[in-house]
Amino acid sequence: MHMKILAIETSCDDTAVALIECATKSCTGAVKNAYPHVLASVTASQIPLHRRYGGVVPEIAARAHAETLLPVIRETFNKAGFAVKSAFHDRDVLCKPPIDGIAVTSGPGLVTSLWVGVTAARTLAWLWKKPIYGVNHIIGHVFSSCIERPLPQFPALALVVSGGHTELLWLSTTDKWKKIGSTRDDAAGEAFDKCAKLINLPYPGGPEIARLGAMGKRDAINFPRPMINDSSYDFSFSGLKTSVRILIEKERTCGKYLSTRRKRDICASYEQAIVDVLVHKTMRAAKKLKPKTILLGGGVAANDHLRSTLAASFAAQPRISLFLPEKKFTMDNAAMIGAAACIAGKRFKINWRKLAAKPNFEVE
Ligand code: KG4
Ligand code: ZN
Repeated sequence: MHMKILAIETSCDDTAVALIECATKSCTGAVKNAYPHVLASVTASQIPLHRRYGGVVPEIAARAHAETLLPVIRETFNKAGFAVKSAFHDRDVLCKPPIDGIAVTSGPGLVTSLWVGVTAARTLAWLWKKPIYGVNHIIGHVFSSCIERPLPQFPALALVVSGGHTELLWLSTTDKWKKIGSTRDDAAGEAFDKCAKLINLPYPGGPEIARLGAMGKRDAINFPRPMINDSSYDFSFSGLKTSVRILIEKERTCGKYLSTRRKRDICASYEQAIVDVLVHKTMRAAKKLKPKTILLGGGVAANDHLRSTLAASFAAQPRISLFLPEKKFTMDNAAMIGAAACIAGKRFKINWRKLAAKPNFEVE
Protein backbone atom coordinates (compact mmCIF):
# COMPACT_ATOMS: atom_id res chain seq x y z
CA MET A 1 0.00 0.00 0.00
CA HIS A 2 1.23 3.45 -0.88
CA MET A 3 -0.02 6.85 0.21
CA LYS A 4 0.38 10.24 -1.38
CA ILE A 5 1.08 13.34 0.68
CA LEU A 6 0.85 16.99 -0.31
CA ALA A 7 3.64 18.81 1.57
CA ILE A 8 3.94 22.55 2.19
CA GLU A 9 6.97 24.46 3.52
CA THR A 10 6.90 28.21 4.20
CA SER A 11 9.06 28.56 7.32
CA CYS A 12 11.41 31.22 5.96
CA ASP A 13 11.92 32.64 2.46
CA ASP A 14 11.09 29.75 0.12
CA THR A 15 7.53 28.88 -0.88
CA ALA A 16 7.83 25.14 -1.43
CA VAL A 17 5.30 22.43 -2.25
CA ALA A 18 5.81 18.74 -3.06
CA LEU A 19 3.83 15.59 -3.71
CA ILE A 20 5.39 12.56 -2.08
CA GLU A 21 4.47 8.91 -2.39
CA CYS A 22 5.53 6.47 0.29
CA ALA A 23 4.79 3.06 1.74
CA THR A 24 2.16 2.98 4.47
CA LYS A 25 2.66 1.35 7.86
CA SER A 26 2.57 -2.41 8.29
CA CYS A 27 -0.26 -3.98 10.35
CA THR A 28 1.88 -3.62 13.50
CA GLY A 29 1.94 0.14 12.97
CA ALA A 30 5.68 0.26 12.32
CA VAL A 31 7.05 1.90 9.21
CA LYS A 32 9.03 -0.94 7.60
CA ASN A 33 10.36 0.98 4.67
CA ALA A 34 8.80 4.30 3.81
CA TYR A 35 11.02 4.92 0.75
CA PRO A 36 9.72 8.46 0.12
CA HIS A 37 9.43 9.03 -3.61
CA VAL A 38 9.03 12.55 -5.05
CA LEU A 39 6.22 12.82 -7.62
CA ALA A 40 6.76 16.57 -7.98
CA SER A 41 8.56 19.30 -6.05
CA VAL A 42 8.32 23.02 -6.75
CA THR A 43 10.11 25.84 -4.92
CA ALA A 44 9.52 29.54 -5.55
CA SER A 45 12.63 31.20 -4.14
CA GLN A 46 12.38 34.70 -2.68
CA ILE A 47 16.15 35.30 -2.74
CA PRO A 48 15.90 38.15 -5.32
CA LEU A 49 13.37 39.95 -3.05
CA HIS A 50 15.63 39.84 0.01
CA ARG A 51 19.06 40.17 -1.60
CA ARG A 52 19.11 43.98 -1.54
CA TYR A 53 18.59 43.90 2.26
CA GLY A 54 21.37 41.33 2.83
CA GLY A 55 19.00 38.97 4.69
CA VAL A 56 15.38 37.86 5.01
CA VAL A 57 12.79 40.58 5.80
CA PRO A 58 9.90 38.76 7.58
CA GLU A 59 7.12 41.09 6.36
CA ILE A 60 8.21 40.75 2.73
CA ALA A 61 8.58 36.98 3.10
CA ALA A 62 5.04 36.50 4.49
CA ARG A 63 3.45 38.62 1.77
CA ALA A 64 5.30 36.74 -0.95
CA HIS A 65 4.20 33.37 0.53
CA ALA A 66 0.57 34.53 0.57
CA GLU A 67 0.76 35.54 -3.09
CA THR A 68 2.67 32.51 -4.30
CA LEU A 69 1.46 29.51 -2.31
CA LEU A 70 -1.75 28.59 -4.17
CA PRO A 71 -0.17 28.94 -7.64
CA VAL A 72 2.75 26.78 -6.45
CA ILE A 73 0.34 24.11 -5.11
CA ARG A 74 -1.47 24.13 -8.46
CA GLU A 75 1.82 23.87 -10.36
CA THR A 76 2.92 20.93 -8.20
CA PHE A 77 -0.32 19.01 -8.92
CA ASN A 78 0.10 19.75 -12.63
CA LYS A 79 3.71 18.62 -12.63
CA ALA A 80 2.75 15.34 -10.97
CA GLY A 81 0.12 14.83 -13.68
CA PHE A 82 -2.85 15.09 -11.30
CA ALA A 83 -6.00 16.27 -13.04
CA VAL A 84 -7.07 18.70 -10.33
CA LYS A 85 -6.59 21.96 -12.15
CA SER A 86 -9.98 23.12 -10.99
CA ALA A 87 -9.42 22.38 -7.32
CA PHE A 88 -9.29 26.07 -6.46
CA HIS A 89 -11.77 27.20 -9.01
CA ASP A 90 -15.06 28.62 -7.71
CA ARG A 91 -17.71 25.96 -8.11
CA ASP A 92 -15.28 23.02 -8.33
CA VAL A 93 -13.70 23.97 -5.08
CA LEU A 94 -14.81 20.73 -3.41
CA CYS A 95 -13.16 18.50 -5.97
CA LYS A 96 -10.85 16.31 -3.91
CA PRO A 97 -7.40 15.54 -5.24
CA PRO A 98 -6.25 11.89 -4.96
CA ILE A 99 -4.04 12.41 -1.92
CA ASP A 100 -4.06 10.75 1.50
CA GLY A 101 -2.85 13.60 3.68
CA ILE A 102 -1.36 17.08 3.97
CA ALA A 103 1.97 17.78 5.67
CA VAL A 104 3.02 21.30 6.57
CA THR A 105 5.91 22.87 8.45
CA SER A 106 4.53 23.92 11.83
CA GLY A 107 7.86 25.36 13.07
CA PRO A 108 10.47 26.45 13.93
CA GLY A 109 10.72 29.50 11.68
CA LEU A 110 9.41 33.02 11.13
CA VAL A 111 5.96 33.19 12.68
CA THR A 112 4.38 35.26 9.91
CA SER A 113 5.78 32.96 7.19
CA LEU A 114 4.73 29.82 9.06
CA TRP A 115 1.15 31.05 9.45
CA VAL A 116 0.70 31.29 5.67
CA GLY A 117 1.53 27.60 5.13
CA VAL A 118 -0.30 26.45 8.24
CA THR A 119 -3.49 28.37 7.36
CA ALA A 120 -3.47 27.02 3.79
CA ALA A 121 -2.91 23.45 5.03
CA ARG A 122 -5.66 23.71 7.67
CA THR A 123 -8.11 25.08 5.11
CA LEU A 124 -7.34 22.39 2.52
CA ALA A 125 -7.46 19.62 5.14
CA TRP A 126 -10.91 20.79 6.21
CA LEU A 127 -12.10 21.27 2.63
CA TRP A 128 -10.80 17.96 1.32
CA LYS A 129 -11.35 16.02 4.59
CA LYS A 130 -7.75 14.81 4.73
CA PRO A 131 -5.53 14.06 7.73
CA ILE A 132 -2.91 16.67 8.51
CA TYR A 133 0.68 16.47 9.78
CA GLY A 134 2.33 19.46 11.53
CA VAL A 135 5.98 18.71 10.82
CA ASN A 136 9.05 20.01 12.65
CA HIS A 137 11.29 21.74 10.08
CA ILE A 138 14.51 20.42 11.66
CA ILE A 139 13.24 16.82 11.53
CA GLY A 140 12.40 17.54 7.88
CA HIS A 141 16.07 18.39 7.29
CA VAL A 142 17.06 15.20 9.15
CA PHE A 143 15.01 13.01 6.78
CA SER A 144 16.05 14.90 3.62
CA SER A 145 18.84 12.33 3.26
CA CYS A 146 16.26 9.49 3.26
CA ILE A 147 14.38 10.59 0.12
CA GLU A 148 14.36 8.09 -2.78
CA ARG A 149 16.15 5.41 -0.80
CA PRO A 150 15.49 2.67 1.78
CA LEU A 151 15.32 3.74 5.41
CA PRO A 152 18.62 3.88 7.28
CA GLN A 153 19.46 1.61 10.18
CA PHE A 154 18.85 2.99 13.64
CA PRO A 155 20.06 4.30 16.04
CA ALA A 156 21.19 7.26 13.96
CA LEU A 157 23.09 10.45 14.69
CA ALA A 158 21.91 13.50 12.72
CA LEU A 159 23.84 16.70 12.07
CA VAL A 160 21.52 19.53 10.96
CA VAL A 161 23.33 22.63 9.71
CA SER A 162 21.24 25.45 8.29
CA GLY A 163 20.90 29.23 8.39
CA GLY A 164 19.05 29.12 11.69
CA HIS A 165 20.21 25.87 13.30
CA THR A 166 23.26 23.79 14.09
CA GLU A 167 22.17 20.69 15.98
CA LEU A 168 23.23 17.16 16.77
CA LEU A 169 20.28 14.82 17.28
CA TRP A 170 20.09 11.25 18.45
CA LEU A 171 17.39 9.12 16.81
CA SER A 172 16.85 5.77 18.52
CA THR A 173 14.24 4.90 15.88
CA THR A 174 12.19 6.59 13.12
CA ASP A 175 10.04 8.58 15.54
CA LYS A 176 12.02 8.81 18.77
CA TRP A 177 14.64 11.52 18.90
CA LYS A 178 16.37 13.95 21.23
CA LYS A 179 18.66 16.90 20.82
CA ILE A 180 22.13 16.22 22.23
CA GLY A 181 23.85 19.44 21.14
CA SER A 182 23.12 22.77 19.51
CA THR A 183 24.68 26.15 18.86
CA ARG A 184 24.96 28.50 21.80
CA ASP A 185 24.89 31.56 19.52
CA ASP A 186 25.11 31.75 15.72
CA ALA A 187 24.28 28.85 13.42
CA ALA A 188 26.89 27.60 10.91
CA GLY A 189 24.92 28.96 7.92
CA GLU A 190 24.57 32.31 9.67
CA ALA A 191 28.36 32.38 10.18
CA PHE A 192 28.83 31.80 6.43
CA ASP A 193 26.28 34.52 5.59
CA LYS A 194 27.82 37.10 7.94
CA CYS A 195 31.36 36.56 6.65
CA ALA A 196 30.07 36.90 3.07
CA LYS A 197 28.41 40.21 3.95
CA LEU A 198 31.70 41.53 5.39
CA ILE A 199 33.49 40.94 2.10
CA ASN A 200 30.57 42.20 0.01
CA LEU A 201 29.45 38.86 -1.37
CA PRO A 202 25.73 38.48 -2.14
CA TYR A 203 23.16 36.73 0.08
CA PRO A 204 22.97 33.81 0.74
CA GLY A 205 26.66 33.79 1.57
CA GLY A 206 27.36 30.07 2.05
CA PRO A 207 27.56 29.12 -1.64
CA GLU A 208 29.63 32.27 -2.37
CA ILE A 209 32.17 31.52 0.38
CA ALA A 210 32.39 27.94 -0.90
CA ARG A 211 32.93 29.11 -4.50
CA LEU A 212 35.77 31.51 -3.60
CA GLY A 213 37.14 29.17 -0.92
CA ALA A 214 37.65 26.38 -3.46
CA MET A 215 40.33 28.58 -5.07
CA GLY A 216 42.07 29.67 -1.85
CA LYS A 217 44.56 28.30 0.67
CA ARG A 218 42.88 26.58 3.60
CA ASP A 219 45.79 27.23 5.98
CA ALA A 220 46.36 30.89 5.02
CA ILE A 221 44.71 32.17 8.22
CA ASN A 222 44.48 30.25 11.46
CA PHE A 223 40.90 31.10 12.48
CA PRO A 224 39.72 29.86 15.89
CA ARG A 225 37.81 26.54 16.10
CA PRO A 226 35.34 27.48 18.88
CA MET A 227 34.45 24.75 21.38
CA ILE A 228 36.17 22.08 19.31
CA ASN A 229 37.66 20.46 22.42
CA ASP A 230 34.68 21.13 24.71
CA SER A 231 33.25 17.95 26.20
CA SER A 232 29.65 18.89 25.29
CA TYR A 233 28.16 18.44 21.82
CA ASP A 234 27.34 22.16 21.63
CA PHE A 235 28.67 24.59 19.05
CA SER A 236 29.51 28.30 18.99
CA PHE A 237 30.29 30.35 15.90
CA SER A 238 30.03 33.96 17.06
CA GLY A 239 33.73 34.15 18.06
CA LEU A 240 34.75 32.97 14.62
CA LYS A 241 32.55 35.62 13.02
CA THR A 242 34.13 38.28 15.25
CA SER A 243 37.63 37.16 14.36
CA VAL A 244 37.00 37.47 10.61
CA ARG A 245 35.42 40.90 11.16
CA ILE A 246 38.46 42.12 13.15
CA LEU A 247 40.82 40.74 10.49
CA ILE A 248 38.98 42.46 7.63
CA GLU A 249 38.63 45.78 9.50
CA LYS A 250 42.34 45.72 10.39
CA GLU A 251 43.38 45.08 6.81
CA ARG A 252 41.06 47.83 5.54
CA THR A 253 42.23 50.43 8.08
CA CYS A 254 45.85 49.62 7.22
CA GLY A 255 44.90 50.73 3.73
CA LYS A 256 45.26 47.23 2.36
CA TYR A 257 43.05 46.53 -0.61
CA LEU A 258 41.25 43.19 -0.12
CA SER A 259 42.50 41.51 -3.30
CA THR A 260 40.66 38.63 -4.92
CA ARG A 261 43.47 36.34 -3.85
CA ARG A 262 43.17 37.50 -0.23
CA LYS A 263 39.37 37.06 -0.33
CA ARG A 264 39.82 33.50 -1.61
CA ASP A 265 42.26 32.70 1.21
CA ILE A 266 39.93 34.20 3.82
CA CYS A 267 36.98 32.16 2.47
CA ALA A 268 39.01 28.93 2.28
CA SER A 269 40.41 29.29 5.81
CA TYR A 270 37.04 30.35 7.26
CA GLU A 271 35.25 27.43 5.61
CA GLN A 272 37.95 25.08 6.89
CA ALA A 273 37.43 26.30 10.48
CA ILE A 274 33.65 25.69 10.30
CA VAL A 275 34.05 22.27 8.66
CA ASP A 276 36.70 21.22 11.21
CA VAL A 277 34.37 22.00 14.13
CA LEU A 278 31.32 20.31 12.55
CA VAL A 279 33.18 17.14 11.56
CA HIS A 280 35.20 16.88 14.78
CA LYS A 281 32.10 17.16 17.00
CA THR A 282 30.09 14.70 14.90
CA MET A 283 32.96 12.23 14.93
CA ARG A 284 33.35 12.49 18.69
CA ALA A 285 29.62 11.92 19.26
CA ALA A 286 29.71 8.94 16.87
CA LYS A 287 32.69 7.35 18.62
CA LYS A 288 30.98 7.69 22.00
CA LEU A 289 27.39 6.80 21.08
CA LYS A 290 28.05 4.30 18.29
CA PRO A 291 25.18 4.96 15.85
CA LYS A 292 24.63 2.74 12.82
CA THR A 293 23.99 5.74 10.58
CA ILE A 294 24.96 9.40 10.28
CA LEU A 295 22.33 11.66 8.67
CA LEU A 296 23.33 15.07 7.33
CA GLY A 297 20.79 17.82 6.56
CA GLY A 298 20.22 21.58 6.21
CA GLY A 299 21.33 24.22 3.70
CA VAL A 300 25.00 23.94 4.72
CA ALA A 301 24.84 20.22 3.80
CA ALA A 302 25.23 21.46 0.19
CA ASN A 303 28.80 22.45 1.06
CA ASP A 304 31.19 20.23 -0.91
CA HIS A 305 34.05 20.62 1.53
CA LEU A 306 31.83 19.52 4.45
CA ARG A 307 30.46 16.56 2.44
CA SER A 308 33.86 15.30 1.33
CA THR A 309 35.49 15.79 4.75
CA LEU A 310 32.64 13.89 6.47
CA ALA A 311 32.82 11.14 3.85
CA ALA A 312 36.60 10.82 4.28
CA SER A 313 36.31 10.76 8.09
CA PHE A 314 33.57 8.11 8.15
CA ALA A 315 35.21 5.97 5.45
CA ALA A 316 37.41 4.68 8.25
CA GLN A 317 34.30 3.61 10.23
CA PRO A 318 32.90 0.73 8.15
CA ARG A 319 30.11 -0.01 10.66
CA ILE A 320 28.60 3.44 10.23
CA SER A 321 26.75 4.43 7.01
CA LEU A 322 26.79 8.07 6.03
CA PHE A 323 23.57 9.42 4.47
CA LEU A 324 24.19 12.65 2.55
CA PRO A 325 21.11 14.39 1.09
CA GLU A 326 20.93 15.05 -2.62
CA LYS A 327 21.93 18.69 -3.07
CA LYS A 328 18.49 19.66 -4.34
CA PHE A 329 17.05 18.59 -0.96
CA THR A 330 19.54 20.51 1.22
CA MET A 331 18.07 24.03 1.07
CA ASP A 332 14.52 24.46 2.38
CA ASN A 333 12.14 22.31 0.33
CA ALA A 334 8.80 20.59 0.79
CA ALA A 335 9.92 17.09 -0.25
CA MET A 336 11.72 16.75 3.09
CA ILE A 337 8.56 17.79 4.97
CA GLY A 338 6.57 15.12 3.10
CA ALA A 339 9.33 12.58 3.77
CA ALA A 340 9.23 13.36 7.52
CA ALA A 341 5.44 12.88 7.52
CA CYS A 342 5.90 9.52 5.76
CA ILE A 343 8.64 8.28 8.07
CA ALA A 344 7.49 9.76 11.41
CA GLY A 345 3.78 10.41 10.73
CA LYS A 346 2.79 9.10 14.16
CA ARG A 347 4.63 11.99 15.81
CA PHE A 348 3.21 14.72 13.60
CA LYS A 349 -0.44 13.76 12.93
CA ILE A 350 -2.73 16.38 14.48
CA ASN A 351 -6.34 17.57 14.34
CA TRP A 352 -6.50 20.50 11.90
CA ARG A 353 -8.19 22.64 14.58
CA LYS A 354 -5.15 22.26 16.83
CA LEU A 355 -2.50 22.87 14.21
CA ALA A 356 -0.68 26.18 14.80
CA ALA A 357 2.46 27.99 13.73
CA LYS A 358 5.12 27.25 16.36
CA PRO A 359 8.07 29.59 15.78
CA ASN A 360 10.04 27.92 18.60
CA PHE A 361 9.01 24.31 17.89
CA GLU A 362 11.70 22.39 19.81
CA VAL A 363 13.03 18.97 18.81
CA GLU A 364 12.24 16.86 21.86
O1 KG4 B 1 18.24 25.06 5.42
P1 KG4 B 1 18.27 26.38 4.77
O2 KG4 B 1 17.83 26.50 3.34
O3 KG4 B 1 17.42 27.43 5.58
C1 KG4 B 1 17.28 27.39 6.97
O4 KG4 B 1 16.50 26.55 7.48
O5 KG4 B 1 18.00 28.20 7.61
O6 KG4 B 1 19.77 26.92 4.93
C2 KG4 B 1 20.19 28.14 4.41
C3 KG4 B 1 21.66 28.33 4.78
C4 KG4 B 1 22.18 29.72 4.45
O7 KG4 B 1 22.82 30.23 5.60
C5 KG4 B 1 23.17 29.45 3.32
O8 KG4 B 1 24.24 30.39 3.30
C6 KG4 B 1 23.66 28.07 3.66
O9 KG4 B 1 22.49 27.38 4.07
N1 KG4 B 1 24.26 27.39 2.50
C7 KG4 B 1 25.56 27.02 2.43
C8 KG4 B 1 25.75 26.45 1.13
N2 KG4 B 1 24.55 26.48 0.48
C9 KG4 B 1 23.66 27.06 1.34
N3 KG4 B 1 26.55 27.14 3.32
C10 KG4 B 1 27.76 26.68 2.95
N4 KG4 B 1 28.03 26.13 1.73
C11 KG4 B 1 27.06 26.00 0.81
N5 KG4 B 1 27.34 25.45 -0.38
ZN1 ZN C 1 15.83 24.96 6.82
